[in-house]
Amino acid sequence: MPQHVQGVIAPGRNEPVRVETIVIPDPGPGEAVVKIQACGVCHTDLHYKQGAINDEFPFLLGHEAAGIVESVGEGVTEVEPGDYVILNWRAVCGQCRACRRGRPWYCFATHNAKQKMTLLDGTELSPALGIGAFAEKTLVAAGQCTKVDPAVAPEVAGLLGCGVMAGIGAAINTGNVGRGDTVAVIGCGGVGDAAIVGSRLAGAAKIIAVDIDDRKLAKAKEMGATHTVNSRTSDAVESIRELTGGFGADVVIEAVGRPETYEQAFYARDLAGTVVLVGVPSPEMRLDLPLLDVFGRGGALKSSWYGDCLPSRDFPMLIDLHQQGRIDLAAFVTETVGLGDVEKAFARMHEGDVLRSVVVL
Ligand code: APR
Ligand code: ZN
Ligand code: ZN
Repeated sequence: MPQHVQGVIAPGRNEPVRVETIVIPDPGPGEAVVKIQACGVCHTDLHYKQGAINDEFPFLLGHEAAGIVESVGEGVTEVEPGDYVILNWRAVCGQCRACRRGRPWYCFATHNAKQKMTLLDGTELSPALGIGAFAEKTLVAAGQCTKVDPAVAPEVAGLLGCGVMAGIGAAINTGNVGRGDTVAVIGCGGVGDAAIVGSRLAGAAKIIAVDIDDRKLAKAKEMGATHTVNSRTSDAVESIRELTGGFGADVVIEAVGRPETYEQAFYARDLAGTVVLVGVPSPEMRLDLPLLDVFGRGGALKSSWYGDCLPSRDFPMLIDLHQQGRIDLAAFVTETVGLGDVEKAFARMHEGDVLRSVVVL
């Protein structure tokens, strides 16, 4: 029997989000229904509401979640009812060219539920990133459920489902930060701070946090930055060079998503260093760099999608490291809120007050 639950929808471009009754079908072949326990509020949810992702309103928002599998459809073997899972938006297909070449983190045919969740009047909902977890329950592809140790609280574990994984992965998967490296992270929100945590975990010798907000720099230091630079009051490139013996950093992680900060990242790295772009730009943004500098400085200019993560490999590993005290995922949770507080959480995000607000159900 289809179930009725409460969920947060974005009804139309820039309209306030609201809690509505939504209809969850029974899971079909390859699908699972998950009882959501916690879901972080991410920038991408706000972008959906603003119509910046696409026009397929109404959206069922939320995609950074942990919960318990309630039921599974035919043929599902990877999870069973009762499993504690983090939801992911990269359920790799195993068949596409990227998967067959052994690079499943680039999979371009990832799985989502085939059936649609709807409003009571039958209007089909578009779940954010194929998840839709600001809801008491949601319907996903079984491969979107990654089983982890239930000892870690859902408001903490769920964060690995998006922003924190993106940042840690930008450092350890995309940037290949290694023992003794110097790293600079430009933009110290949730994603940048996660890149700091990842760099520290990987053994970086120096981690330089760059931001225009001193509150963010203070937090970055708590997260493991060894040095901080306020790029409103000092030149980011000069400061990073000074702090690295005049060379520039081995890896610079851009976690803002703007041309001017990308340019800083480009010039703040050492010759043959690596730039990782994990901040998400908007369509109108353009970059203008001397091609000779692109050639002459060598190295690698990379982008990091979802931290180039493989959920089945990375989520349980990071949960283990958290339990050992080698990373502190709980430090990312600024506040827990209710299902009716998503609009307020967007406002706080906009003000730069929070790393993460997490909806707890
Ligand atoms: N220079 C340095 N830091 C900046 C600048 C700038 N010009 N502009 C903004 N920042 C800082 C902000 O002060 C803030 O600390 O960047 C940080 C951005 O943090 P959040 O707004 O919390 O964003 P976050 O969730 O970390 O995401 C960062 O990654 O996933 C993408 O869409 C997301 O593009 C966004 C980026
Ligand atoms: Zn694939
Ligand atoms: Zn997200």
